[in-house]
Amino acid sequence: MIGTDVSVAKQLLEARKLVAIPTETVYGLAANALDPEAVLSIYKAKNRPSFDPLIVHIGDTEWLSKLITHLPQSAKDLIKAFWPGPLTLILPKSELVPDIVTSGLPFVGIRMPRHPLTLGLLKQLDFPVAAPSANPFSYVSPTTAQHVADQLGDKLEYILDGGPCIVGLESTIVSFEVPDHPKILRFGGVDQAAIEKVIGPVKISISNNSNPSAPGQLDKHYATGKPTHLVNKPYELLQFNQDAVFTIGYGEGLFDYNLSPTENLDEMAQQLFTALRTADSADQKEVAISKVPNTGIGKAINDRMTRAAG
Ligand code: TXA
Ligand code: MG
Repeated sequence: MIGTDVSVAKQLLEARKLVAIPTETVYGLAANALDPEAVLSIYKAKNRPSFDPLIVHIGDTEWLSKLITHLPQSAKDLIKAFWPGPLTLILPKSELVPDIVTSGLPFVGIRMPRHPLTLGLLKQLDFPVAAPSANPFSYVSPTTAQHVADQLGDKLEYILDGGPCIVGLESTIVSFEVPDHPKILRFGGVDQAAIEKVIGPVKISISNNSNPSAPGQLDKHYATGKPTHLVNKPYELLQFNQDAVFTIGYGEGLFDYNLSPTENLDEMAQQLFTALRTADSADQKEVAISKVPNTGIGKAINDRMTRAAG
């Protein structure tokens, strides 16, 4: 069930089965992206609504010319700068991409992940894989093989174990629906400043509600099963009753989960989803989280925290 054998993962994917794959961001629930039935089984396993499109993962940029009809220059520049890595581009899809992958949209999300096991696997397959985060719809994303096993273990054939995810938050999504006006649809592993350094200013279009053009960005996402409070600074967590509320903070204070005693934002990103899962299985009936400084990957962390709090 959990293992490190790339050839097992390859054989199962070729047999149209579901396999969980490690990426640098979070674990994905993968199937052959060119096979509508295999893709349908992803939606079923996750209990994911059919209006929420999937990201296609490739191991070689040669796939681009087959999967999309146009590649704007600034998209090329981003690919050169950040692939393989935590960046997804939304581009006009070709006929080859089944409608079920994009929920009927004329655009497809594509990325090349950086995790060596998965990159190696993708290079060996003669199809790309569609893969959402490997969690039940609206729950916290998995950053270890065990997280996947805990929730979806009985719904898939194999979990390729690549260790804990290094980035810990999903990819940044940049849309090229309007080719000359890229916009960020989701903050993630590549921060806005790094993107703007390469292609100049980009618009931000992060939706806060159920919006069919970026449907995964629902208000209540990354949720634990418990009422979750959000505060602006770690010291504000002291107001909560320790017996009733599980606290997630950072820095010097004493919290139930400390995301980073040294206040390192990359470490906070890496730890956040594990912290939320720990909170979920703790005795306390509620959770309180402190936002982090809103710079660099901090924006993505705060976005996930805000959604976790619903
Ligand atoms: O880091 C990641 O991106 C991870 C790993 C596994 O690669 N994947 C991931 O997938 O986060 P998922 O399905 O949990 O989130 C994908 C997001 C959703 O918000 C979805 O709506 C958006 O990407 N998306 C996918 N295709 C899209 C499209 N054609 N147009 C607009 N949004 C799209
Ligand atoms: Mg997800």
